[in-house]
Amino acid sequence: MKKIGIVGASGKLGQYLIRHALERNYDVVGVCRPESVGKLDAYRDRITIVPGRTNEREVIRKAVAGCDGILTVLAPWGVEQYATGTAQAVLDFAPPGARLVFSCGWHITRDGKDIYSWKLKTFVKVFGWLARLFRFADLEDQVEACRRIFASDTRWTVVRGSDLEEGESEGLPVWSRHVGDPILESNLTRRVDFALFMVAALENDELVHEAPAIVGCQTPSALANRSQV
Ligand SMILES: NC(=O)c1ccc[n+]([C@@H]2O[C@H](COP(=O)([O-])OP(=O)(O)OC[C@H]3O[C@@H](n4cnc5c(N)ncnc54)[C@H](OP(=O)(O)O)[C@@H]3O)[C@@H](O)[C@H]2O)c1
Repeated sequence: MKKIGIVGASGKLGQYLIRHALERNYDVVGVCRPESVGKLDAYRDRITIVPGRTNEREVIRKAVAGCDGILTVLAPWGVEQYATGTAQAVLDFAPPGARLVFSCGWHITRDGKDIYSWKLKTFVKVFGWLARLFRFADLEDQVEACRRIFASDTRWTVVRGSDLEEGESEGLPVWSRHVGDPILESNLTRRVDFALFMVAALENDELVHEAPAIVGCQTPSALANRSQV
């Protein structure tokens, strides 16, 4: 792995992705919306920045050329199928054989076997309804984006994040195939470690065609179920 693309590089998760990627000495190409380029000033001299909306196909085509791996933040924001357009462009233009790693939340299910708490179900229902009503986000867009990824024959991994918090890294999160598994019960991951898991997945072929749901490795449920890892 030498050159990697980060699609959605200017957000909180995206900037942690850049940090981990540079620590691994990857050449980094970051894509972010033109109005957000300034957020990447700290990295301006160390990465190539491609300004553009991540669902613009020409922007993605140019940015991912020659990349061995592509990390994509699937943003549920807006009501114009931003996440779906972003995922489709990455799937279409990624060089053959490239490792593709996408971010989303626990609410995405790959096989319908996840068991959700009433709290998560209520949040998704209420947030989804309010988001559609006020047209600031569309959770169905992220669902559709992931449906297309799951159906693709590229070398994908979809990393499903728990609730997130800021703070120093605690180490690589642990994961399980299904929300509802005891190891995930704590439902909390440091955002910096969500990014760490995504970057590590680039070099972990065991995660190809998996949709790991992750949780912090120091959380009570991870510590109590260590033997499952
Ligand atoms: N927040 C959570 O608790 C949580 C929990 C589980 C999973 N996740 C997943 O983690 C990933 C990133 O989440 P995050 O909370 O850490 O946020 P984040 O890193 O700040 O990412 C938000 C992204 O959305 C973009 N964005 C913001 N407003 C937008 C708009 N109106 N139209 C298009 N793009 C817009 C941002 O780009 P700009 O820099 O250009 O604004 C940024 O790339 C997502 O895939 C999310 O599903 C989050």
